[in-house]
Amino acid sequence: MIKTLEEHLKGIDNELAGLILKISELANIISSELPYRRGKADTKNVFGEVQLVIDKWADQFLIDEFKKSNLVKAVVSEEQPDIVKLNKDGIFNVTLDPLDGSSNIESNNLVGTIIGIYKKDLPCQGKHQIAAMYILYGPVTTLVYAAENGVHEFLYTSKGFVLREENIRIPEPGKLYGIGGLRKDWLPPFRKYIEGLEEDGYKLRYGGAFVGDFNQILHYGGIFAYPALATKPGGKLRLFAEANPMSFIAEKMGGASTNGSMSILEIKPESISQRVPIYIGNKGLVEKLEKTLI
Ligand code: F6P
Ligand code: MN
Repeated sequence: MIKTLEEHLKGIDNELAGLILKISELANIISSELPYRRGKADTKNVFGEVQLVIDKWADQFLIDEFKKSNLVKAVVSEEQPDIVKLNKDGIFNVTLDPLDGSSNIESNNLVGTIIGIYKKDLPCQGKHQIAAMYILYGPVTTLVYAAENGVHEFLYTSKGFVLREENIRIPEPGKLYGIGGLRKDWLPPFRKYIEGLEEDGYKLRYGGAFVGDFNQILHYGGIFAYPALATKPGGKLRLFAEANPMSFIAEKMGGASTNGSMSILEIKPESISQRVPIYIGNKGLVEKLEKTLI
């Protein structure tokens, strides 16, 4: 029997269900704009990255819609330098990567939207998330949400989002690894660890969008990293917009995340714009890596 996202969400808190459903509708609109809003904008984000027209549009679109919905108190977005306060009486604080992997737009590879949901005021530790989700604009648009009831995946069809798999657990043993940054810049203990994985038969798959690279770990198991690099000791990915939501999902499905010494979800933030090295996937692989890096 087909179960829609809306039906599935009856199992969780009403207001949270309303927010997740709203985000699923907004994501479909973002997806439908991908063929039209193309090219570069004349601006850079707070991280010094050139913004695309679609990055800026998706960011403003989500913020405007959240303002209208009254559910959202404040937003932390990869595309905004400061916390954006929306509704005094809102219930949730939301983190946004409105269009993750936007450098894949030109080549028509995977992109997506990553969301973290909190009740506590931001900035706070990622462990205070009450839910996290991503929408992957792939050959099929898929949505994964994680909340107190587990991790679940939906496919977008003519009947809307329908359940593909519920209570997802990360497959053991894993099969894949995907690592960002230049291999020559990986730190020696990390390089040695990856060589060990290669000898054990793990296969490289790297697509250049965190949302897609994480999604394959969810389905096949293994490890994804955007590690500390000799040239970028702090890594590349953003703690709030990217690392925290995916770490929440990974840990909820029995996997693990680390910055090299502690779970990403335990990091006490210093700024809403901080970056973090991230290693995420099967628990055994992440724990072994942590021991290698210490
Ligand atoms: O948002 C940053 C991002 O596009 C991630 O989606 C991805 O994991 C990473 O950057 C890719 O970086 P690189 O181009 O260095 O492989
Ligand atoms: Mn991103």
